[in-house]
Amino acid sequence: MLVLGIETSCDETAAAVLESPRKLLANVVHSQLEHEKYGGVVPELASREHVKRLIGIVNESLSRANRTLDDIDAYAVTYGPGLVGALLVGLTFVKSLAQASGKPFIGVNHLEGHIFANALTHESCRPPFIALLVSGGHSNLVMVKDWGKYRVLGKTRDDAPGEAFDKVAKVLGLSYPGGPAIEKASVGGDKTFFKFPRAFMGRDSYEFSFSGLKTAVAVYLRDQDQSYVQAHLADICASFQEAVCEVLAVKAILACNEYRISKLSVSGGVAMNKRLRELTSELAAAENIETYFPGPNLSTDNAAMIAMAGAYYLEQGISSKLDLNAVPYLSV
Ligand code: KG4
Ligand code: ZN
Repeated sequence: MLVLGIETSCDETAAAVLESPRKLLANVVHSQLEHEKYGGVVPELASREHVKRLIGIVNESLSRANRTLDDIDAYAVTYGPGLVGALLVGLTFVKSLAQASGKPFIGVNHLEGHIFANALTHESCRPPFIALLVSGGHSNLVMVKDWGKYRVLGKTRDDAPGEAFDKVAKVLGLSYPGGPAIEKASVGGDKTFFKFPRAFMGRDSYEFSFSGLKTAVAVYLRDQDQSYVQAHLADICASFQEAVCEVLAVKAILACNEYRISKLSVSGGVAMNKRLRELTSELAAAENIETYFPGPNLSTDNAAMIAMAGAYYLEQGISSKLDLNAVPYLSV
């Protein structure tokens, strides 16, 4: 089955062509740079950019896959969570395609898409596994009993880790998105330079909280000279990054051990972070846990993961109806 996947939940306009179950023929992502000067995503701007870009991105994915729209058997599209106006662009586009062609479509939960992302790269990343899903809008620790059978072990109580990276980058005067900017600025820095607080929320808790850490960095910066901050920018970034990564890695390993699951999948935009990959792999190896990280262009938002999650259901004859609406606060 050839599936066209579409993703427009936030500030990436993306389309992918997948031959189910996991042969990726094209994965095209356009990251909207228009938000950079505002230091965060402007919802209306995001919707308008999706409208402008989507058709071009879809055509590009078909041409890279060396296929035409006629070759496509079914469509998969993100219907939540995300910005409602942005979601509606992709969803309405796919509904029109489905209506005009008489082919089925399925609405995919963006978070479930991130859970499927590692299975695209790694054939052995099959349930049961623990999924650490860390992005700009979400942080979830999930037990994946089977595809479609999830138990959320913990979530963030406030900011998502990517959001913490973005906000701390802003107070440090670094560019948006903050994750890659902080990672780059931390190169050569001393991660033990300053011990920022780690919110473990109790020894056995799988809940996360990152807003206290963000405030701790802001308070720390307020008390320092600007020249001192600039001289130690790499050390401060490395210290902050370590505080985020340590909490994420420790809790994910704790969950694997408690539930005796020896596979850990890390996905979402923050899974790009090299220190998170290194620390998680190190702690996991000591416990004989296998770790999975998405391949290129599959950590941050993309349509390949949406196509794969959608294909799983479409293959079973499950599809959505034309009255499916966008659900901005959809959970796992
Ligand atoms: O998954 P994603 O593209 O969008 C959401 O669903 O939120 O994730 C974007 C988030 C941003 O907050 C960005 O700062 C973060 O992922 N991110 C990173 C890195 N690359 C992207 N965080 C830390 N280190 C990185 N290298
Ligand atoms: Zn995402």
